[in-house]
Amino acid sequence: MRILFYDTKKYDRDSFDSILSEYPEIQIDYLDTDLSVQTAVLAQGYDAICAFVSSDLSAPVVEALGKEKIPLILMRCAGYNNVDLDAAKAAGITVLRVPGYSPQAVAEHAMALALAVNRKIHKAYIKVRENNFSLTGLTGMNFYHKTAGIVGTGKIGTAMCNICRGFGMRVIAHDMYPNKNLDFVEYVSMDTLLAESDLISLHCPLTSDNYHMINNYTISKIKKHPVLVNTSRGALIDTEDLIRGIRADKFFGVGLDVYEEETQNVFENREDDILQSSIVSRLLSFPNVIVTSHQAFLTEEALEAISRTTLDNAKAFVAGNPDPKNVVSA
Ligand code: NAI
Repeated sequence: MRILFYDTKKYDRDSFDSILSEYPEIQIDYLDTDLSVQTAVLAQGYDAICAFVSSDLSAPVVEALGKEKIPLILMRCAGYNNVDLDAAKAAGITVLRVPGYSPQAVAEHAMALALAVNRKIHKAYIKVRENNFSLTGLTGMNFYHKTAGIVGTGKIGTAMCNICRGFGMRVIAHDMYPNKNLDFVEYVSMDTLLAESDLISLHCPLTSDNYHMINNYTISKIKKHPVLVNTSRGALIDTEDLIRGIRADKFFGVGLDVYEEETQNVFENREDDILQSSIVSRLLSFPNVIVTSHQAFLTEEALEAISRTTLDNAKAFVAGNPDPKNVVSA
């Protein structure tokens, strides 16, 4: 089975190559370039293509893959909102994905952001490099005995609840489907969570119901000076309202792994570009904000799990029995 991988980075190639010997029936060719109508023709003769969360799989691209008689799109990620599923169905292309790879990786990064912005690690790192050992401006707060409010207690939110519990925090959560295994977590309304949390961490998917769930109104409901962390999707937060809230000194700190208008930046080195959006620079103008580049998933363990499930998906497709929970469209 020959698979053409689009938009690969060194860490993708290293991770897939490290397990490829366990899949002798599979041959991989890697491309740096991402999918487009023009590059879809490169897939001619392959048995599958492999794409990522930021790849263009809109209808014209999927149709172009259909013309090359590609039967299978392997998404090496959980998200598939970039895939035109109607077009895939019409072209007879199966779409498989990796629904979960390491919830702990994302939750640990959420806590890393919360701790860094709370204890001013980003400022201390730079100050000490300049031989400035003053402590002014570095005061944080204990998380111990404070309240963590977790929005969404699926796989990642559950891992975050456990981490916060380990810190000796009271853990409250909001989710339409409470996780009954989290017996130490108190489920509350969103208003209560906002009013009582010292750390608010977002772990729900972006849906049409929760677009901009953090906005002027919800910010007006928060307790004084919480830390806010978002490792889920940028559009859960109305960035303009967040900036207004930060200026009004509503937050102790804000840690963002995702933000609105990040799509063009995701995983790219744009140091020579004149950026057309000012969102990142405005956010970074605040001393109590840390932004990372959609890297919460990026651990060795998560990459290995992504590689393994992607190649298992390929094998299972050929055998005619793909795991139903990995099937996006068949
Ligand atoms: P999951 O599907 O296991 O859990 C999501 C939970 O959120 C569910 O329990 C659901 O009932 C709940 N939920 C949905 N809408 C809600 C709302 N409006 N309010 C409160 N709860 C709500 O998903 P998982 O695996 O835990 O992932 C969560 C999100 O994390 C993903 O949707 C994705 O956006 C993000 N993610 C970010 C990564 C990164 O590298 N930054 C990597 C992987 C996922």
